[in-house]
Amino acid sequence: MKMKAIVSHKYGSPDILQFKEVNTPTPKENEALVKVYATSLNAADLETLRGTPMSRFGGLLRPKHKILGTDIAGRVEAVGSKVMQFQSGDEIWGDLSFPHNCGAFAEYVCIPEQALRLKPASMTFEEAAAIPTSAIVALQNLCGKRPIQPGQKVLINGAGGGVGTFAVQLAKHFGAEVTGVDNAGKLDLLRSIGAWNLCLRWRFHSCSSSSFNTGTLDFNDGHSKNGHRDVETKQKRRSGFVERPF
Ligand SMILES: NC(=O)c1ccc[n+]([C@@H]2O[C@H](COP(=O)([O-])OP(=O)(O)OC[C@H]3O[C@@H](n4cnc5c(N)ncnc54)[C@H](OP(=O)(O)O)[C@@H]3O)[C@@H](O)[C@H]2O)c1
Repeated sequence: MKMKAIVSHKYGSPDILQFKEVNTPTPKENEALVKVYATSLNAADLETLRGTPMSRFGGLLRPKHKILGTDIAGRVEAVGSKVMQFQSGDEIWGDLSFPHNCGAFAEYVCIPEQALRLKPASMTFEEAAAIPTSAIVALQNLCGKRPIQPGQKVLINGAGGGVGTFAVQLAKHFGAEVTGVDNAGKLDLLRSIGAWNLCLRWRFHSCSSSSFNTGTLDFNDGHSKNGHRDVETKQKRRSGFVERPF
């Protein structure tokens, strides 16, 4: 059986993407075959398409995965013999990023069952597909080795982006005081999701540590040299630099 997919055989700009017919995959014994109803684009998809150094893991010269896309919401069409949690017809959502093999930019994709969850009935497929990859990265960073504690101060760099907006909301949920850093055009968005302090990126460069790179998340408990206290001190020196809650 054939399906339509967006395929890339080499690294490059979006111009190299081809919309073509390929073989529909067959699920292995631990996989579900899912019909994709909705997917979403992440910055990581573009980085993988372009072949940035970090994204070439397993594919130094050519992309390891010809079909990109990590966020998925859809319906299970068939399951392998060892799949226990899902059956044909289930509405699911999932994250196909590493260690899984991407593939959401297609009509169908095969996915190990542990990468899937039942989609909440209250969410549309489009809403569900906007969440998994970014939200999981945010959650992993906040709840990893040193889980965030109520009352802690957290600095989120790139707070207005895909991962950042989830990180702001989750950090607030866990009771942290959140400082978000991003460009001025995102301030209203950041206000609306509850960032306590807001820093404009263009004025922030001089006090950023070298680890505060574009799009990365930097969480700090306030004890390191380049941590939040340092940021806060410098904010105070710049009148009008910090916006307070609303
Ligand atoms: N390992 C994984 O599985 C995984 C998964 C998801 C994401 N990631 C990585 O996490 C990063 C962020 O992903 P994303 O989806 O959140 O990207 P995104 O939606 O593009 O968000 C990045 C945000 O950072 C802002 N920004 C750019 N330069 C900045 C600077 N110097 N200081 C502060 N903010 C700055 C951007 O603003 P502008 O819009 O003005 O540029 C944007 O709001 C990417 O590098 C991505 O590869 C990794």
